[in-house]
Amino acid sequence: MIENQRSLDNYVTLNGDYNYETGRNGEKLVYGSFWTSKQRCGNSIQEISYRACFKPQLPDFFLSKYSKIGNIVLDPFAGRGTTAIESALSGRIPISNDINPISKILTEPRLMPPTYEEVSNRLSYIMFDTNESAEIDLSMFYERKTEGEIVSLKKYLTSKKEEGKEDYIDKWIRMVATNKLSGHSKGFFSVYTLPPNQSATPAEQIKINKRRNQKPLYKDVKKIILKKSRSLLKDITPAIRENLFAISKNAVFLEDDSRNLKEINDNYVDMTITSPPFINLVDYAKDNWLRLWFNGYDHSKYEDKITILNKLEDWSLFIKETLNEIYRVSKIGGHVAFEVGETKKADLSEIVYGLGLNVGFSHIITFINTQKFTKTSNIWGVDNNKKGTNTNRIVLLQKK
Ligand SMILES: C[S@@+](CC[C@H](N)C(=O)[O-])C[C@H]1O[C@@H](n2cnc3c(N)ncnc32)[C@H](O)[C@@H]1O
Repeated sequence: MIENQRSLDNYVTLNGDYNYETGRNGEKLVYGSFWTSKQRCGNSIQEISYRACFKPQLPDFFLSKYSKIGNIVLDPFAGRGTTAIESALSGRIPISNDINPISKILTEPRLMPPTYEEVSNRLSYIMFDTNESAEIDLSMFYERKTEGEIVSLKKYLTSKKEEGKEDYIDKWIRMVATNKLSGHSKGFFSVYTLPPNQSATPAEQIKINKRRNQKPLYKDVKKIILKKSRSLLKDITPAIRENLFAISKNAVFLEDDSRNLKEINDNYVDMTITSPPFINLVDYAKDNWLRLWFNGYDHSKYEDKITILNKLEDWSLFIKETLNEIYRVSKIGGHVAFEVGETKKADLSEIVYGLGLNVGFSHIITFINTQKFTKTSNIWGVDNNKKGTNTNRIVLLQKK
């Protein structure tokens, strides 16, 4: 047990059941189910799939404790933008960085949400030519007419972007379509395939079709986009929309490597909330190949850029360089909540603790969320029965 528990309680201000321990290196740890009670209460606008995303309750927990309205909040590994959206919803100003360009495509439009009517009107204006076809073979994913609709939409969005005329409604439609390209239920443009946050390769899809004895059926692209828009916008009241639009004017989107956030000044960021790529687990370029194609990117160009590290030493060096950069951009007094999954091989939070001290941070405490995950709850976006994580550790650092 740590000695100054009372003062730490005041600082951390936890509710419910939790208990303190001391880690192997003398670091403070606290175990608990920190956001269970609110688990199902995330805003509807967060419901976008991305591999290894965290639940909105995680940034919400840290934002409410260690940041104020108007603060600048950074996520250097933004993914689907969970931190950015949660920050904006609570009046903070996000800097959302990810080397994968899909991150901005999924995040920015949700800071400028159109109304359902605006989406509906815009869709009815876009002309679909069902005879269009993609320059690559997508017949294993899409029925011929569906492919025509997707390609028509892709062309419409590309020309609007090239003309500099892509507005918040077009960007919203791009975001929803990107999310609906492929998935494992009827609500996607594709035939049954992997979950939407992972794309099968064409060869893998041919095998899936054979095994399931299935072929792609027609899907109404506009109808699917409208249905998803309705559910995403469910919790967006006029007041929330107005606040999000106001925040979006100051929000920043970057595509930097986390080790060199060159556009961000020294001592600029109030709080960082993030989770880095896992070791040897997720191939973001491959997972996003179809999403990259739809948005006019060649996924092979991202294979070297998006970091995949197989060895612990390489991962540690990458994290050290990233923490060093986060230290540079953090204000004095600024906090960093750094979430790492658990692996069988090593306790990554111990590594982050050591590296954090090494680059100059003070360690406040490491939160260990002891939420029990069932196979179906899948609350971290990683299946429990796979080589994934089911307990999460968040190392809380401060630049003093
Ligand atoms: C675990 S995910 C983050 C998920 C995010 N917390 C969310 O809720 O969606 C890690 C992210 O790091 C990004 N990434 C990988 N290498 C990177 C690098 N060198 N610099 C910046 N981002 C990188 C990946 O594209 C991926 O989106």
